[in-house]
Amino acid sequence: VVADAEWAREIRRLADERDAVLLAHNYQLPEIQDVADHTGDSLALSRIAAASTASTIVFCGVHFMAETAKILGPGKTVLIPDERAGCSLADSITAEQLREWKAGFDDPVVVSYVNTTAEVKAETDICCTSSNAVDVVRSVPADRDVLFCPDQFLGAHVQRETGRENLHVWAGECHVHAGINGPELAERAAANPDADLFIHPECGCATSALYLAGEGTVPEDRVKILSTGQMLDAARETGASSVLVATEVGMLHQLRTAAPEIDFRAVNDRASCRYMKMITPAALLRCLSEGADEVHVPLDVAERAKASVERMIAIGT
Ligand code: 13P
Ligand code: SF4
Repeated sequence: VVADAEWAREIRRLADERDAVLLAHNYQLPEIQDVADHTGDSLALSRIAAASTASTIVFCGVHFMAETAKILGPGKTVLIPDERAGCSLADSITAEQLREWKAGFDDPVVVSYVNTTAEVKAETDICCTSSNAVDVVRSVPADRDVLFCPDQFLGAHVQRETGRENLHVWAGECHVHAGINGPELAERAAANPDADLFIHPECGCATSALYLAGEGTVPEDRVKILSTGQMLDAARETGASSVLVATEVGMLHQLRTAAPEIDFRAVNDRASCRYMKMITPAALLRCLSEGADEVHVPLDVAERAKASVERMIAIGT
């Protein structure tokens, strides 16, 4: 299947026929982003899914994102072009592990990243995304223990921002972001002394970026720890002519579209998520033609998970 104009017309025709809205995460292939009704970060897409009046949501992203849309709209048909599109971060904690962890504390508040299974969300008090994790943790009364899972690097970022000592962080990670490492970042920053650094908080190199700022290698105001949606806002506002980007490489397409005059370069150009890239033009065509793969979340799990996801979409900008 070639993602040409004819393919795009057919995708749009089939979407109309199904009364479907097409959502694409910022890490999707460029042709998938361009054919979608909305492209955005996890938080923006959850909000759009919750507000949509379409009877079908086609989620071009990974499985937990489609599950989140189903939790928010149990009466809607939610489709994902390839149900094998998982997430190594979501796989780093199970509901059973979370229950055991909780049992070691006296009435803790569980804050889970949206990159988790529906079963983990059902054991969670408030979900968050990288856009609002700091605001979500700040919303928890200071005297309550917070259990933050599953991403250790986002947890470390929240800990730095809130200075909270009763924040306990699970040791999970995303294989793509953890692989963008400090030495690589330092080398790129030294070779591009005028560049801004846009760093996703899931990255293993976020601490190194702050270290580079601390020792004066990179001016402090050039180091920005941002979710994918926040990167787009920052791209429109920065005066820099070049930016080094530490996140999944799909993000470069949106950034280059938003600010064509800026030279965006990946810190690690091998940082590609194989799960995100399972959503191919052929898979999207099949999805809309056959109405597959449909995402189901058991009703009792969805009901328990719903409150935590609704709190997430209500907090932060
Ligand atoms: P955001 O879109 O919330 O920045 O999430 C990044 C991510 O890794 C999703 O898989
Ligand atoms: Fe999961 Fe990482 Fe892929 Fe995002 S980039 S979907 S966190 S494996």
